Formats: sequence, C-alpha cells, structure tokens
Amino acid sequence: MKNYIIVLIIALLSTAVSAEKISKLRDGEILENIKPQRIPMVINNDKKLQRNYPMQPPIIPHKIRGYQINKNVNKCMSCHSRTRVSESQATMISVTHYMNRDGNFLAEISPRRYFCNQCHVTQQDTKAPVKNTFVDMHTLISNSAKEE
Ligand code: HEC
Ligand code: HEC
Repeated sequence: MKNYIIVLIIALLSTAVSAEKISKLRDGEILENIKPQRIPMVINNDKKLQRNYPMQPPIIPHKIRGYQINKNVNKCMSCHSRTRVSESQATMISVTHYMNRDGNFLAEISPRRYFCNQCHVTQQDTKAPVKNTFVDMHTLISNSAKEE
C-alpha cells in the first residue's frame, strides 16, 4: 500500500511539471477548457518566397485544399508537370523529381517525389508560437567576415 502511495505521488508531481511546460504553448492551464483559436487562413498570394537555403523545398504560395494525391490522381501534377506548365504558368517540378534513386531520369515523376506534401507545405497567416532563431548563411558569412 505504501508503495502505491509513493507511485501515486510521483505520478502527480510529474503531471504537475508537464502541465506547466505545456501551458506555455496554450493560453490556459492543461485541465482548463479553453476556447480554441480560429484556424488561420492559408496564404494564397501567389508570391514565390525566397528559400532559406538552396536545397529547401519551396513553400507553396497558394491554397491546396481539396487537391487530391492518391494512387489514381495527383492534382499537383495537373499544373506542375513538364507537359502542363505552359498552360498553367506554374513552376515545373525540377529535374530531381524525375530521378530515381540510381540517378536515372524517368519519363514520369519518380515515386520518391510523388507525395508532394511530404516536403512542400503552405504557410498560414499567424504568429509563430515559438521564436525562430534561424540565421541565413549570408548573415553568418558577413558576420564572420566582420570578426576577422
Ligand atoms: C491550378 C494549377 C495548380 C495546382 C493544381 C497546383 N499548383 Fe502549385 N503553383 C501553381 C502556380 C501557377 C504557381 C506559381 C505561383 C502562383 O501563381 O501561385 C505555383 C507555385 C507552387 C510552388 C512554388 C514554386 C516556387 O518556385 O517557389 C510550389 C512548391 C507548389 N506550387 C506546389 C504545389 C503542390 C504541392 C500542389 C498540390 C498539392 C500544387 N502546387 C498544385 C499552380 C498550381
Ligand atoms: C522528398 C521531398 C520532395 C517531394 C516529395 C517533392 N518535392 Fe518538390 N522539391 C523538393 C526540393 C528539395 C526542391 C528544391 C531542390 C530541387 O529542385 O530538387 C523542390 C523543388 C520543387 C519545385 C521548384 C522547382 C524549381 O526548379 O524551382 C517545385 C515547383 C516542386 N518542387 C513541386 C513539387 C510537386 C508538385 C511535388 C509532387 C508531385 C513535389 N515537388 C514533391 C523536394 C520534394
């Protein structure tokens, strides 16, 4: 019985600690029922954004709600494939998307690049809950040049 009480006390203490941590990203305490925030709008301004580093998958500057990607259809490819871009004026998927893992070029999109949302995401018009401390490499280079 004594052991049970000790276990219970430890369990209670640990939930108290995690509740405090989680509450920093919530507007209220963990056991409190808070009114959820409104779902922010997806940015849909069609403006291509600067990439943070050359290998970054570009973010999607338009809405993708309802665009299906499954075994039978890939809605993204109806605008972004090589044969569709003159009509859609979308950026063609780059050559890496046609390469298989041995580096050979395929006629169609590689299965490795089929599920676009694995890598490409839309942005929402909202305040980031956690501060971003990312520094662009140009800033790093110019800072280190100043130090020398
Ligand atoms: C109706 C045509 C259409 C469809 C469908 C579409 N796109 Fe686009 N996409 C565009 C156009 C046009 C642009 C160029 C910027 C703009 O006008 O929004 C673009 C831009 C982008 C870019 C930015 C490219 C860059 O160089 O910065 C990405 C990434 C992208 N789309 C991914 C997707 C993904 C992923 C899907 C499917 C979930 C998708 N798109 C579906 C037309 C489309
Ligand atoms: C495994 C990750 C991955 C997947 C899946 C993927 N991409 Fe990309 N995509 C990238 C990366 C990384 C880049 C930038 C470097 C490059 O071109 O390979 C990119 C670049 C692009 C670009 C810009 C091309 C350019 O020349 O500027 C477009 C448009 C794009 N992807 C669309 C798509 C679409 C549409 C799909 C789905 C059919 C898709 N991607 C699937 C990682 C991915």
